[in-house]
Amino acid sequence: MNISIIGTGYVGLTLSALLARVGHKTHCIDVVPEKIETIKTGKSYFYELGLDNLVKYGIDSGNLIPTLDYGEGLKDADVVFLSVGTPSGKDGGLDLTYIFDAVKKAAKYVKDGVIFVQRSTVPVGTGEKAIIIMKEANPSLKFTYLSCPEYLRESSAVLDSIIQDRIVIGGDDKKAIQKIFDIFEKIENEAEEITKETPEISKYANSYMHSNEHKTMKFSDKCITTCLESAELVKICANSFLAMKISFANNIARICDSVGANVNEVMDGVGMDRRISRSFLYAGLGFGGGCFPKDVKGLKKSLEDHGIDSDLIKMIWKVNEEQVDYIVEQVKKMNIFKGARVGMLGLAFKPGTSDVRVSPACRLGKALSKAGYYVRATDPQAINDAKKEFPEEKNLKYVDTVEEVFDSSEIVILATDWPEYKELDYENLSKLMSKKNFYDARNCLDKKSMSKIFKFENLGS
Ligand code: UGA
Repeated sequence: MNISIIGTGYVGLTLSALLARVGHKTHCIDVVPEKIETIKTGKSYFYELGLDNLVKYGIDSGNLIPTLDYGEGLKDADVVFLSVGTPSGKDGGLDLTYIFDAVKKAAKYVKDGVIFVQRSTVPVGTGEKAIIIMKEANPSLKFTYLSCPEYLRESSAVLDSIIQDRIVIGGDDKKAIQKIFDIFEKIENEAEEITKETPEISKYANSYMHSNEHKTMKFSDKCITTCLESAELVKICANSFLAMKISFANNIARICDSVGANVNEVMDGVGMDRRISRSFLYAGLGFGGGCFPKDVKGLKKSLEDHGIDSDLIKMIWKVNEEQVDYIVEQVKKMNIFKGARVGMLGLAFKPGTSDVRVSPACRLGKALSKAGYYVRATDPQAINDAKKEFPEEKNLKYVDTVEEVFDSSEIVILATDWPEYKELDYENLSKLMSKKNFYDARNCLDKKSMSKIFKFENLGS
């Protein structure tokens, strides 16, 4: 089949590479020349385990064709997946400029009978508007528009795209919907082989997760067909609900700190209830990244646009916003005073990625610097991105090694829960410090053994 993907971010490039891997002639289109140039060399332009292998396979086999040219990329397409960004707009809603520009342009180049599939997270009602824009751009075009949002997580993008949790497709063209289910089933059918070629894709797959039930589910049991509006809402609601679980855990972590309970024990108990589940109830620095923050704000805006109370959603946001300041207060309580050297492990918004968009770790670095501490932070992948998005300051420097983080510090804070940081030789590293204080803001290190080395505190216990 001839398939085109517009937008080569985490969603678009991962899907493009997999479609090419299972034999489709796949054009991936972007408007940023540097991105297309890098993909042409057989590499991803962002860090995502296993993706380079797949991109290289696509380029070498000739199945993956990166292009800046909408005409070339779309003229033969049977299916077009739309996966351009939907960043936060000035009013808090999702900015749909890229989506509407893309469909307007695309409608001029595609052939009759094409199926458009929206993969980006969009506010409810976007599909209806996109259809109008396409009809205006090319009144004679015969096309189908479906909403089929993506649910992959960064750091597990490849695996999540091979074996999807569920495939929800909104629209009313049954034949077109079946075609899309078939495309995804073909990828899932080759899961074993692709995973064998790229075993590293599962390294971060269990972050914050408790079960992998969907892996054993029959493909057809995961397929859901809905109207356009429901499919659009499923995605933004799923992200907001997960964000709500995290804010709930963070809120409860504060009472645990006050009364001497342990938030991990509490959430283990709560999560045993199958109606709730333990996944995404891990207290920490709060949620960040390119999705949860913008989608929570986006849902709030959609509710308000329809005159519906958004207090519940506002509280998810409020708890998350407070979390970094709460951690700064906890550090102060350990008698770490203004002017102290503070080391920070982690900058990425979560393990397994170089992405620092709305990263709680980077926000913590800035907050500590503002509070008068002298901060040195490192990360296995995210230093370059952090330098661009959260520039260094007089009191905030990014360093290459964990040794530099510990050197002469009065306290070290674990800010991103990279598995690599659970394996460090803390005994030896502690010898570099001027005072041996440690704060685990992700609540992921073993308190008992860490307390033998440090004056150790963590969030929520
Ligand atoms: C999220 C969703 O999980 C995906 O299903 C969705 O497809 C994606 O957004 C998207 O809309 O594109 P992602 O942002 O990559 O994926 O990362 P998550 O693993 O969901 O983590 C989000 C944030 O929440 C991170 O900062 C993480 O550290 C934090 N988190 C997560 C917690 O603090 N506690 C938890 O229990 C879980």
